[in-house]
Amino acid sequence: MAEHPDTPDFAPLDSLLHEERVFRPLPETLAAALVSPARLRQAREQAEADPLAFWEEAAEELDWFGRWDQVLDDASPPFYRWFPGGRCNIVYNALDRHIQTAAKNRLALIWEGEPGDCRTLTYYELFRHVNRFANALKSLGVRKGDRVVLYMPSLPETVIAMLAVAKIGAVHSLVFAGYSAKALKDRIDDARAVCVITVDGFYRNGRVLQLKQVLDDALLLGGHAPETVVVCHRAHVDVEMQDGRDYWYEELVRAERPQCPCEVMDSNDMLFVLYTSGATGKPKGIVHTHGGYMVGVSRTFRWVFDINPTDIYWCTADLGWITGHSYAVYGPLMAGATTVLYEGHPLYPQADRLWSTIARYGVTILYTVPTLIRMLMRFGKELPRKHDLSTLRLLGSVGEPLNPEAWVWLHKHIGRQQCPLLDTWWQTETGMIMVSPLPASLLKPGSVTRPLPGIVADVVDAAGAPVPPDKGGLLVIKTPWPAMLAGIYNDPDRYVEEYWSVIPGAYLTGDVARKDEDGYLWMQGRADDVLVIAGHRIGAAELESGLVSHKAVAEAAVVGVPDAIRGEVAKAFVILAEGYEPASALIKELKAHLKRELGPVAVLGAMEFPASLPKTRSGKIVRRILKARERGEEVGDVTGVEE
Ligand code: WTA
Repeated sequence: MAEHPDTPDFAPLDSLLHEERVFRPLPETLAAALVSPARLRQAREQAEADPLAFWEEAAEELDWFGRWDQVLDDASPPFYRWFPGGRCNIVYNALDRHIQTAAKNRLALIWEGEPGDCRTLTYYELFRHVNRFANALKSLGVRKGDRVVLYMPSLPETVIAMLAVAKIGAVHSLVFAGYSAKALKDRIDDARAVCVITVDGFYRNGRVLQLKQVLDDALLLGGHAPETVVVCHRAHVDVEMQDGRDYWYEELVRAERPQCPCEVMDSNDMLFVLYTSGATGKPKGIVHTHGGYMVGVSRTFRWVFDINPTDIYWCTADLGWITGHSYAVYGPLMAGATTVLYEGHPLYPQADRLWSTIARYGVTILYTVPTLIRMLMRFGKELPRKHDLSTLRLLGSVGEPLNPEAWVWLHKHIGRQQCPLLDTWWQTETGMIMVSPLPASLLKPGSVTRPLPGIVADVVDAAGAPVPPDKGGLLVIKTPWPAMLAGIYNDPDRYVEEYWSVIPGAYLTGDVARKDEDGYLWMQGRADDVLVIAGHRIGAAELESGLVSHKAVAEAAVVGVPDAIRGEVAKAFVILAEGYEPASALIKELKAHLKRELGPVAVLGAMEFPASLPKTRSGKIVRRILKARERGEEVGDVTGVEE
């Protein structure tokens, strides 16, 4: 979701945050790791010497219907084509091939509804459901290349629908179930969807949200009209069904056969379009394809999460985000793992839902987001202590900078100081994890460590020159990678302009980062959120991290506001921890704390204590809105932001 940062005068950033703590992997972690330090070193060397051979080897771990002509066609950058000529279908790797192995009777899915109902599906059961629905979609006239919008919460049927659509060669586009009718309509229009799949209603925070009703409202807004609508039962609320357009899922699948072969796709045929959550403006349809995506996701899932057959893996991301696509569905299923899915609000009915769910299913790997961790920290360490979390062996984080305090809390109180904590950096556009430790890596709290083997990332200034160690700069990716986006749906010019024009020859992530002497990367936030205080360029993330390291602060957002003398000063929006009240003594204390933590440059101007912060539905703070309000400017597109 990189929006054009204002880069022409982009100078290196000053870095204020210095974190000295390091955590070495335990001997038993090293002994058990799928990728040992020696193997990792060898992989880095191999990937550096011959990146195409490195990725070709990863491709060979998967099943193909026909071999590729070449690993990478780079004849017309930035329109790179991975494994051109290769014949495949990601669903074959996620399902069909397991049916011939011991994975057949293993649990593919453990699903829990918000009210506490639970459903499980083995690989064989999931396979049959997918085949039935794939056949039903064909009966409805859905063809290879057609776009199908899924307006659904995290349900087994959502996974079934994703896989069924992809199996017949159509293109899925998930729209997060919290989006409004207008946001949904914009996406249906842009994708020109032939079919929309939804549910009658679902449970969220103790309420039933009537999704079919929102879809009806969206379709009344005019624009592109899908030919068919499929509705699954979930909350059993009354809905209106339009004759000849709307069909019940259960009725459609009843008559269908549980066999359906995979459509043979070219590597570069579209798999899905996913609209980015709009933290920085107008949503765009990010396109991913079958071949490169499956190779990149499969390899990174196995290596980073170190998966083995006894794992119960839980990625808390909603299926409507890229994390849900790559690491709740495709990655785990390609690995034959058991993936946990939860329908509702993470704090419902009580703040310990996450911990009780881990205990209930014996979750071994938890992949979640910083905003949730910080929220749960507010409730204290006693809450997780009431539950048996001893099954956990790996923790992962994604989506925002994980500040050192939250990192250490998670590592200590949830991970018993034994579970490696993997802070993974990537984007909707990258499709797969790009920068991350592996379980056997040396960890520094707050750092995403180093690019994975095969990924060439760097920190540069506006001219594309590397910045010295410990200065911040633009994070760029210098060579293509398999799961990279194929482009923006129906907008090739915007793709070139936004990602490939600022630093010639490199992919612009839109994030700022610094690299330390060991080559470890420290994310400093979005380039658009950089503050300029008395000539110093500082990433918002560092100031926020400094604030939340104080025990009174649960969450903080910092933006720059114009200042006659310093150019800009930092203004902080602070959510206090339980038991603290805004008071002038506390404000003074927080300002002093920030200077102590980050040095004299970290001058804080005003402070506000709002009831909540504007966030995207995936939990990222939208500083753009706070900034615009401060400056009395138009806020712009706020679709997908909740407060
Ligand atoms: C941010 C989510 C710091 C970053 C997979 C990126 C992170 C954007 C991290 C992509 C991390 C993601 N540390 N920041 N570990 N991971 N981000 O497209 O700004 O929803 O550009 O993909 O999230 O968000 P998206």
